[in-house]
Amino acid sequence: MKHPHSTLPLLLSLLTLPSPSLTYTPLSDFSLQHHLTPSLPTTSSNITTRDPDFDPLIGALLAPILRPRVPGSVGHAAVQSHFVHFAQTELHPAWQIEWHNTTATTPATGARQVPFRNLVLRRDPPGAAAGEVARLTLAAHYDSLLRPEGFVGAVDSAVPCAVLMFVARAVDGVLGRLWGDGGGEGGLEVRKGVQVLLLDGEEAWVEWSERDSLYGSRALAETWEDTRYEAGSSFSTPLEAISLFVLLDLLGAPEPNIPSYFPTTHWAYRKVARIEERMRKLGLLETRPKKPFLTESEKKEGARFFGGYVQDDHVPFMQRGVDILHVIPSPFPPVWHTMDDDGAHLDLPTIRDWARIMTAFVAEWMDLEGYLEEGRGEAEGGDSGRDEL
Ligand SMILES: *[C@@H]1O[C@H](CO)[C@@H](O)[C@H](O)[C@H]1NC(C)=O
Ligand SMILES: *[C@@H]1O[C@H](CO)[C@@H](O)[C@H](O)[C@H]1NC(C)=O
Ligand SMILES: [Zn+2]
Repeated sequence: MKHPHSTLPLLLSLLTLPSPSLTYTPLSDFSLQHHLTPSLPTTSSNITTRDPDFDPLIGALLAPILRPRVPGSVGHAAVQSHFVHFAQTELHPAWQIEWHNTTATTPATGARQVPFRNLVLRRDPPGAAAGEVARLTLAAHYDSLLRPEGFVGAVDSAVPCAVLMFVARAVDGVLGRLWGDGGGEGGLEVRKGVQVLLLDGEEAWVEWSERDSLYGSRALAETWEDTRYEAGSSFSTPLEAISLFVLLDLLGAPEPNIPSYFPTTHWAYRKVARIEERMRKLGLLETRPKKPFLTESEKKEGARFFGGYVQDDHVPFMQRGVDILHVIPSPFPPVWHTMDDDGAHLDLPTIRDWARIMTAFVAEWMDLEGYLEEGRGEAEGGDSGRDEL
C-alpha cells in the first residue's frame, strides 16, 4: 500500500518543529489503575448491578441502539437522535456535531432514493487552524441489515458504536484539562484531535458488491478527499488529516481473536496489544480468555497479513492512502448476520474490556498521561506534574 499523502506532512513537521503535542507517552500503571473507567462491576454477594452503559435492556449507551435501524426507517431516525442527544448532553460543547447526508438507490428499493447519514463527532484543540489538526479517527457503522427482518445487529455494530461513545465521554474531561481554558499555541503547528465517525449504510441490501455496500463511507471518503483546506495548510483535505483510522466491527461476543491485518499499521496494533497485556497483568480486565483479544503482537514484518480479505468501511479510506487499524475478529462471531446477533448473546465483560482497552489507547494517543491524575495532583498541591509543555 502506498501513502501518497497521509504521513508526509506529519513526518515533516515532526522533524522540523519540536511539537510536544505529537509525542506518544505510554500511560503509567497509576493512570491505568485509577482513571480508566468502567471500573470493575461491584459484585456484592451474588448480585451484579446492571451495567449503566452497556446493559442490553437499560444501558444508557447501548440499549437505544439495539433495535432494527435500516436506513430510512423509524428505528434509524431514533438511533440518530440518540447519538445527537448523547453528544449534546454528555460531551463538552467544543465537540463539533456534523452530519454528512447523501442518498442513493439500492438494489432492494428500486428508484427510491434511500437516505444515508454519517455522523461525525469531532474535538479539535482550541484555536487550532483547520488543516493543522491530525485526527485520530474512530469509526463504526450504525445501520442494520434489511434481512432477516427484525435483525438488531448487536455486535454488528451496535456495540462498537456504544463503545466509541463511551470512549469519547471517558477522555472528554481529560482533553479539557490538557487543552486548558482555550489557550494553546494557536495556528501554526500540527496538533492532535480526535473524531468519532458513526457511519451509515455499511450493509448490503441484497448481496455484497462494490455498489451494494459501504454507502455511507464511500460518500464520506469522497467528500473529504474533495474538501480543500486553505492553501499552505499542513493537510490539504480532511482525508489527509486522518492520522489513523481505527475501525471497530463485530465486537461484543466472547473470546474475540483480532489479527493484525496491515503491516503498515502493525506498530499501532502493537500499542493496543501492549495496553491489553498491561491491563491484564494489573488485573484491570474482567475477562479471562484463553488467548488475548489481540493475538498477533509478536508477528514479524515479513509474516502474512490478511488485510485484503475483509471488506468493511475502511476500504474507501484505505484506497485513498489512509492508515487503517481494523479491530474485527477473525473468525467472525457465530451469531454474525443471524437473528441471534441480539442483546441476549452479548458478553458484557468482553464489552467492558473493549471499552477499557480503547479508552486507554485513545488516552495514550492523545498524550494524556499526566492529565489523568487530577485527584492525585490536587492532593499533592495542585500541580499536574507535567512540565515538558
Ligand atoms: C444468591 O443470594 C441469595 C440470597 O442472598 C441466596 O439465597 C442464593 O442461594 C444465592 N445464589 C447463589 C448461586 O449463590
Ligand atoms: C442530515 O440528517 C440529519 C439526521 O437525519 C438531520 O437531522 C439533518 O437535518 C440533515 N441535514 C441536512 C442539511 O439535511
Ligand atoms: Zn453486517
